[in-house]
Amino acid sequence: MGFKLLPCFNTIPFLYLILFLSPLADGQLDYNFYDKSCPNLSMIVKYGVWAAFKNDTRIPASLLRLHFHDCFVNGCDGSVLLDDTKDFKGEKNAFPNRNSARGFEVIDSIKADIEKACPSTVSCVDILTLAAREAVVLSGGSNWPIPLGRRDGLTASEKAANEQLPSPLEPLENITAKFASNGLDVKDVVVLSGAHTIGFAQCFTFKGRLFDFNGSGKPDPALDSSLLSSLRSTCPNVDGSNSNLAPLDSQTIYRFDNVYYKNLVNNSGLLQSDQALMGDPKTANMVNYYSMYPFLFSKDFAASMVKLGNIGVLTGQNGEIRKKFEPQPPPPPPMAVTQQVHSAHSGHGSIGSVIAVLAVITILGVIAGMIGRLCSGKGIMGHGQYDFEGWAERKCSSCLDGRVEPPPPRAAAENTRNNGSGDDAVAVPVAVPVETPQETEEETTQHHPHENA
Ligand SMILES: *[C@@H]1O[C@H](CO)[C@@H](O)[C@H](O)[C@H]1NC(C)=O
Ligand SMILES: *[C@@H]1O[C@H](CO)[C@@H](O)[C@H](O)[C@H]1NC(C)=O
Ligand SMILES: *[C@@H]1O[C@H](CO)[C@@H](O)[C@H](O)[C@H]1NC(C)=O
Ligand SMILES: *[C@@H]1O[C@H](CO)[C@@H](O)[C@H](O)[C@H]1NC(C)=O
Ligand SMILES: *[C@@H]1O[C@H](CO)[C@@H](O)[C@H](O)[C@H]1NC(C)=O
Repeated sequence: MGFKLLPCFNTIPFLYLILFLSPLADGQLDYNFYDKSCPNLSMIVKYGVWAAFKNDTRIPASLLRLHFHDCFVNGCDGSVLLDDTKDFKGEKNAFPNRNSARGFEVIDSIKADIEKACPSTVSCVDILTLAAREAVVLSGGSNWPIPLGRRDGLTASEKAANEQLPSPLEPLENITAKFASNGLDVKDVVVLSGAHTIGFAQCFTFKGRLFDFNGSGKPDPALDSSLLSSLRSTCPNVDGSNSNLAPLDSQTIYRFDNVYYKNLVNNSGLLQSDQALMGDPKTANMVNYYSMYPFLFSKDFAASMVKLGNIGVLTGQNGEIRKKFEPQPPPPPPMAVTQQVHSAHSGHGSIGSVIAVLAVITILGVIAGMIGRLCSGKGIMGHGQYDFEGWAERKCSSCLDGRVEPPPPRAAAENTRNNGSGDDAVAVPVAVPVETPQETEEETTQHHPHENA
C-alpha cells in the first residue's frame, strides 16, 4: 500500500519532502485525515465500544463481523449500515446478515457522539473501521494504525451481500475465490479467519457436522469427539435449536488470541469452513504456524485488517459523509439537518470528562509502552529478523497512533468476562505496525461471515 510510509515522513524533518512526494493530495486515505477536523475521534470511538462492551460482551465480535460484512460487499462504504429505501433493498436483510448482524446501535451511538464533537465530518464507514479495531484491542488483540478518509456509499445491495459474502458451508476454494475477488489472498483467508477467536455461531451454521455430515448419516470425522458431544447438547437435532449459540473458540471465548488456530490443530474448529483450513496443505501450514507464534498472528492480523479496510473505498469527492445511516439526497439539502438525534445519548453528559481520563491513561500507556519496548528490544520482535526500517516504522506508527492506543477498558472489562482464562501470550496489545506481509510461503484469507456473534 502506497501510504504505508507516509506517517513517518509526515513528521517535521521530512515536511519538505512531502511537498514533492506525497500522493496524498486527495483520493487517498491518510493516517492523519481527521487530526485537525476531529482530533478526539479515536477517543470517542474507543469510549463507545468500551461502553457497549460493558453492557454486552459479544459486541467486539459483532463489530468486527459488521466491518467485514461491510467491506466484503462492494467495498468498505458503510453500506451494511443502511436500511432499505424505496430505491434499493439493503444488506441488513441479506441471508448472511438477517438475524445475525449486530452492533448497529453501537455505531449509531458513536456516530451521534461524534456529530456533537465534529458535525458532518466523519464518515460512518471510518467509524465502523475504527470500532472494529477497538473491538480487537478491547479483547486483548493487537493494535494498529488505520488510514482514514473513507466516505460513505450512497447505496447498498441485498443481492450483492447474498452473492459475495462467504458461507461457512462453502468449500475452501470458493471462499478463497471470494477473497481473491476483493484483492485478498490465501494468507488473508487464514489470518482473518483468526477473528473467530471471539464470537459465537448459531447452531444451524454447523449442525450438519454433528448429525449427518455430507449425507453420511454420521458426524464429521474431522470433529473432536468431546467437542462433538458438547455441541450436540447445545444443538440437539431439532429445528428448535437452530438459533442456539456456541462459541467459535470454546477455549478462550472472549479473548482475542491465537487459540483459534490451536483448536484447528486439535480438530476443534467449530465451523466446517474453519476446520477446512486444515484440509489443504498450504493453509494447514499457516494454521500450524499461527498456533505456535501468537505474536506473528497479531502482526499479520493487523496487516490483513488494513487490507480489508482498504477494499473499494470511496475517497475525495465520491460518496458522502452520512449524517446518519440514511444516504443523503445527492444535492445536499440546505442547512437543515445539522443536529443529530441525541435522544439516546442524554446519559453521555460526562463524555468530556471520560475522554479526559482516557487521554491521561493513554499518555501513560504510551510512555509505558515506549519504556517496555526499549527494555524488551528484540525480545518483542522474537523471530530474529530485526530490521531497522521495521523498527523505525513501528516507532512512527505508535507515535501517530499513540493518542489512540491504550486499552483502558481492558482492565475494567476483564472483570465482566466470564472466562478470560487464556494464559495466552497475546495479552498485551503491542502497537503493531502495518507492514507488508513478509512471509514467503503463504497467502489467502477467509473470514467470519458465519458467526452471528
Ligand atoms: C445492551 O445489550 C443488549 C443486547 O445484549 C441490547 O439489547 C441493549 O439495547 C443494550 N443496552 C444499551 C443501553 O446499549
Ligand atoms: C463453489 O464454486 C463452484 C464454482 O463457482 C460452484 O459451482 C459451487 O456450487 C460452489 N459450491 C458451493 C457449496 O457454494
Ligand atoms: C461430500 O460427499 C461428496 C460425494 O459423496 C464428496 O465428493 C465430497 O468430497 C464430500 N465432501 C466432504 C467435505 O467430505
Ligand atoms: C489440544 O490437544 C492437546 C492434547 O490432546 C491438549 O493437551 C490441548 O489442551 C488441546 N488444546 C486445545 C486448545 O484444545
Ligand atoms: C477533545 O477532548 C478534550 C478533553 O475532553 C476537550 O477539552 C477538547 O475540547 C476536545 N476537542 C474537540 C475538538 O472536541
